[in-house]
Amino acid sequence: MSESERKKWDARWRERGPLPSPPSILLTALDDLPDQGRALDIAGGNGRHALWLADRGLSVTLLDVSVVALEQAAAAARASDLQLETVCADLECDPLPAGPWELVLSFHYLNRHLWPRFPELLAPGGILVFVQPTRRNLERHERPGVDFLLEEGEAARIASRLEVVRLEEGWSTEGRHEAVLVARRPHPGEVLPTST
Ligand SMILES: C[S@@+](CC[C@H](N)C(=O)[O-])C[C@H]1O[C@@H](n2cnc3c(N)ncnc32)[C@H](O)[C@@H]1O
Repeated sequence: MSESERKKWDARWRERGPLPSPPSILLTALDDLPDQGRALDIAGGNGRHALWLADRGLSVTLLDVSVVALEQAAAAARASDLQLETVCADLECDPLPAGPWELVLSFHYLNRHLWPRFPELLAPGGILVFVQPTRRNLERHERPGVDFLLEEGEAARIASRLEVVRLEEGWSTEGRHEAVLVARRPHPGEVLPTST
């Protein structure tokens, strides 16, 4: 990522103000999230999900390219007496932190090069949650632009070598057209159910 793009993200987080928004209703309503172990929030911004997961009992690492976002998240964690590890990394060139993670969250961040790495990052039985707007989102919203939108049906590609727990696309209660994938890494020797 260029220095100017990084500064743009820093400026966006500064403008939004220091306090993380509430977590997405979609995430908080999922049935299959672990409540202990290690969680990685990829490009998690100023921590709306990382803080909620830490409060739930997970040991959370929040990764983002924006130092401003990470500082806001760290301050919010301190204010709520929550443990939060932050990692500043540019996922266009830096590696993802090594697992195993009981939960990997990728929410509103699109980087297709990372997808093949997801299964090996997860602990056996670990859960991947991936949420990203699709092209149909343009029917109601100008942003995000097409470079940040999934093709229809594309999220299924991420789930190879994983067990799909939930895979759907549609208009969310928060007004976006999104793909939602929840997938689980099988335990060694576990046979994946075949899709019909
Ligand atoms: C749309 S925001 C989503 C933030 C968070 N996941 C959420 O749902 O609130 C996208 C995030 O990706 C981060 N980001 C963009 N490019 C990145 C990169 N190359 N490496 C790491 N983080 C990046 C931005 O700083 C921003 O926080």
